[in-house]
Amino acid sequence: MNYILAMQKRPRRNRKSSSIRSLIRETRLGTEKLIYPLFITADEQAKNPIASLPGQFQLGRTELLSEIEESLNLGLSNFVLFPVVDEGLKDEKASYGTSVDNFYLKRAEELKSSFPEICLMSDVALDPYSSDGHDGLVKEGKILNDESLPILQEMALLQAQAGFDIIGPSDMMDGRVGAIRSILDEHQFSNVSIMSYTAKYASAYYGPFRDALDSAPKSGDKKTYQMDPANALEALREAELDTEEGADFLMVKPALCYLDVIRLLKENSKLPISAYNVSGEYAMLKAAASNGWLEEEIAMEEMLLSIHRAGAEIILTYFAKDYARLQAQK
Ligand code: PBG
Repeated sequence: MNYILAMQKRPRRNRKSSSIRSLIRETRLGTEKLIYPLFITADEQAKNPIASLPGQFQLGRTELLSEIEESLNLGLSNFVLFPVVDEGLKDEKASYGTSVDNFYLKRAEELKSSFPEICLMSDVALDPYSSDGHDGLVKEGKILNDESLPILQEMALLQAQAGFDIIGPSDMMDGRVGAIRSILDEHQFSNVSIMSYTAKYASAYYGPFRDALDSAPKSGDKKTYQMDPANALEALREAELDTEEGADFLMVKPALCYLDVIRLLKENSKLPISAYNVSGEYAMLKAAASNGWLEEEIAMEEMLLSIHRAGAEIILTYFAKDYARLQAQK
């Protein structure tokens, strides 16, 4: 039996060769769109593996410098730093976060003077420094909003003074973008940018990150400040506020379960949209690949491409170096 298909419009014609597929390809993701998250310690030398983030390490000073140099050679020049803080230095007020002795600030200074061409993004939140493991101050089990703002402001100011190019408030307190913008401007840092974690969801996919920093909340969860995974309109409200308060970039986090939110912000905002391909998303793929259940490189490219296609111009990802290496080989 022969079925005669009289069809003049045939989509497969546009897929018939690699050249044609390249001609019609709608989305391209370059290494220059990626931001590489790095976990750093106060040690002179350290390269401690993070069990739930295979291929990622807690880096001492020397290893951080070589990691940056290697990345630059691969065309990767944007980094976000997260501090691994000794348990003994953590307290209820996250004091070490606003201490001028914070090694995090020293590292940033050194990196910006050794590699002036890099773009360095910070993290503003209390959790790496807090004995409670929450992003704001805790009082009688409640996360305080307004009382947390001056601490976040001070952190941001110290980071700007240390040379960070972009301040990254990941804490989700109301009004923090405006508070940070005004303290930066007051101190002549009007040129320092803010990438706001605008739609940051209360997600299970942050697990490996909390392992890396040993920063899981000691009690309760983050649902009174991070967003409910069921909501999308609320992301628009957050986006409006961050925009009014002076954010330069809006971020959606995590990325994969929230591709619709990325698209929603993209279509409703004139600001550049970024997305955080978080630790759990990385860990899932690594775990499946190490079992031989997924082809790692192809799945990674597909994952990052989908985030870009959804509308994120910028992607924060632990795959940054792997992706850069792969592009350099092509
Ligand atoms: C906390 C913070 C988290 C991440 C970045 N900053 C975790 C959390 O909110 O508990 C997660 C990043 C990741 O999972 O890769 N301020």
